[in-house]
Amino acid sequence: MPGLLNDTVCLVTGAGGGLGRAYAKLFAAEGAAVVVNDLGGARDGAATSESAAQAVVDEIVAAGGRAIANTSDVSTDEGAAAAIAAAIDGFGDLNVLVNNAGILRDKTLLKLDEEAFDSVMRVHVKSTFFCTQKFAKHRVSKGGGGRIVNTTSVSGMLGNFGQANYAAAKAAIYGFTRTSSIELQKHRISVNCIAPSATTRMTEDLPMFANVDTLTPDHVAPAVLFLASELCGEKTGWVLAAAGARMYAFRVVETAGRFKEETGGVWSPEEISEHWDSIIKL
Ligand code: NAI
Repeated sequence: MPGLLNDTVCLVTGAGGGLGRAYAKLFAAEGAAVVVNDLGGARDGAATSESAAQAVVDEIVAAGGRAIANTSDVSTDEGAAAAIAAAIDGFGDLNVLVNNAGILRDKTLLKLDEEAFDSVMRVHVKSTFFCTQKFAKHRVSKGGGGRIVNTTSVSGMLGNFGQANYAAAKAAIYGFTRTSSIELQKHRISVNCIAPSATTRMTEDLPMFANVDTLTPDHVAPAVLFLASELCGEKTGWVLAAAGARMYAFRVVETAGRFKEETGGVWSPEEISEHWDSIIKL
């Protein structure tokens, strides 16, 4: 049966549950061979269980798809290398990478400690860096081509109460995506972001997700499939956002600003105050 990902090998990190599980299952249904990576951690990153990734593989195989499990910690150099190697050793290549693994350690800024800050930055940002770099080196060694989908969030793009560490990590992934998309364009590797909103164990206790059955991972998965498939074409560096029935995008905008002719173009703070409205006007 023709699928959007026929003859494609995909690695989805953190795919043992929640959004990643939905992506892996849809990718396999669209013809991809899928590496389901997950170390099976708790929401805050504590403890591990090897069964999470294997359970998703079992679901995919039962539905007639192709998948293998990988339980490495992709926030480490060796773990990311092992996840990429699992694809190449298991299926002979790797064409699509979805950097989805993540944890939450919410605390308001005044209570945030270094451990909660570092662990969230490490899991989100370093896993995205390690996996992206290794994936890109592999694709370049194959002559180019390929697709990367990174995961940012509303919190990273707009900010959210109680998530200074998480928002910093997700905004870092946005900046990383923009630069990677520019650098990898010449190798025909697209690098885009998904900003999902869905009820998972990560969000189920947040007020906007409580008792909501219209914000599911299955609403988000087709957006990630789009970014992972040839339908995405040459689009790169974008942030596609999916929340239930709503499909939208985040764009960072630059205002036209205002130029000063006098005093060699040097603005005084008082002049900035006086012209604030025209400086920030879109
Ligand atoms: P989840 O907690 O169900 O899934 C995250 C998965 O990543 C877990 O299965 C966990 O075991 C795995 N993981 C954590 N650290 C890992 C590591 N070092 N190596 C390998 N696997 C690891 O949460 P959910 O909601 O599915 O989140 C998926 C991604 O989407 C995350 O990056 C999250 O920040 C992001 N996101 C989710 C939103 C939502 O509304 N659910 C909103 C915005 C972003």
